[in-house]
Amino acid sequence: MLYTGRHYLLGNAGDGRSSLYLGRYLALDGSQGAPVLLDVRKPHAVVICGKRGYGKSYTMGVLVEEFAGLPEALRRNFSVIVVDTMGIFGSMAGPGGIGARVFTPAPFLSEMPAGALPFEIPTGSLSVYDYCELLGIEPLSPHGAVLASAISESDTFSIESLIDRIHSSAASPGVTSAVCGLLSMASSWKLFSPHASFASLLEPGSINIIDLSGYGHDPGIKSCAVASLARALYDVRVRARRRENGSREVPLIWMLIDEAHMFLQPDSGAGRVLVNEWLRQGRQPGLSLVLATQRPSALGYDVLSQADVIVCHRLTLRDDVEALERARPLYVKEPVREALARLGNTRGAAIVVDDATESYHVIKVRQRKSLHGGGEPEIYGAD
Ligand SMILES: Nc1ncnc2c1ncn2[C@@H]1O[C@H](COP(=O)(O)OP(=O)(O)O)[C@@H](O)[C@H]1O
Ligand SMILES: [Mg+2]
Repeated sequence: MLYTGRHYLLGNAGDGRSSLYLGRYLALDGSQGAPVLLDVRKPHAVVICGKRGYGKSYTMGVLVEEFAGLPEALRRNFSVIVVDTMGIFGSMAGPGGIGARVFTPAPFLSEMPAGALPFEIPTGSLSVYDYCELLGIEPLSPHGAVLASAISESDTFSIESLIDRIHSSAASPGVTSAVCGLLSMASSWKLFSPHASFASLLEPGSINIIDLSGYGHDPGIKSCAVASLARALYDVRVRARRRENGSREVPLIWMLIDEAHMFLQPDSGAGRVLVNEWLRQGRQPGLSLVLATQRPSALGYDVLSQADVIVCHRLTLRDDVEALERARPLYVKEPVREALARLGNTRGAAIVVDDATESYHVIKVRQRKSLHGGGEPEIYGAD
């Protein structure tokens, strides 16, 4: 969208031609002012935070809608991937949606609207350490050694072939049965395949929702899926960047992760790849990350300080406000607490802190065009 009138462009000093419309400036009296846009010619690391129910997932959906609404020629520069842990972004696919595609692991496909596609992880995309973490095995234990040696036998393996290899190995029966038991459990998740690939997520201009909500009870599986995905996409973009010379082989990737605190434990595979590769080194190869969380303090200082755009909805917990204050760049002169007080109770109101323009703004995020699946359920028949 090209804005000729007065507007605020976050993220870069550009002409607003390739930008996402976030909402409008929110005045103290509640009236709305000039449009606020986020420039996407360059990659960004965005953190969206705030108390539950004040608009994080909604705002994430607005960003996704804006990508979908970019003119085709621009949109083809991007591939948008939403990691949906709660199953609330699926409403952006199907009728009335924005042409997004939903991917979900095979066991949950039947619960999805028609058209959902299987999400599979290539077995070779995870390291021995990832498998150990996933299965709760100590890497330096006899169990870890047995697993490592089975994995190292070949590059393409199925979980079932690992079980066969371990059964025919010389490991002690106790170790064999423990490791094989854990591998059978992993096999039952129907998540891993030797020949899987993430290539279809990289179709130019595509909007992809990865619904992992089916594994609700098990954050370890979701975290493993994110580790694998994040690592594979990083490698693809780093390789493409080397070859690209004025043309685009693989679209620039925007990965959006809701409930991101689940994935950012520094000692987890997902946490390591997201922080070390995506946040610290991702901008050069064209990787953008949007993380939404109700606990910015749980993201850690590293994550908050690497973000170049912070969108903060209503936030009340002291630890969280303090975490933001610590990471808050010097140009935010007003204490975070006071700025937050200005948001009041308005859902969708937010402070946006922008490194590129060294400024912060109080905004009201625009209304969604597609259905937002994240609202709290209401009871029927109350009136
Ligand atoms: N920008 C907005 N404009 C209008 N309503 C909003 C906006 N942001 C949030 N809401 C309302 O608040 C509810 C909760 O928002 P949601 O994003 O699901 O919260 P959370 O921060 O927990 O992810 C939404 O269902 C919607 O009704
Ligand atoms: Mg939410």
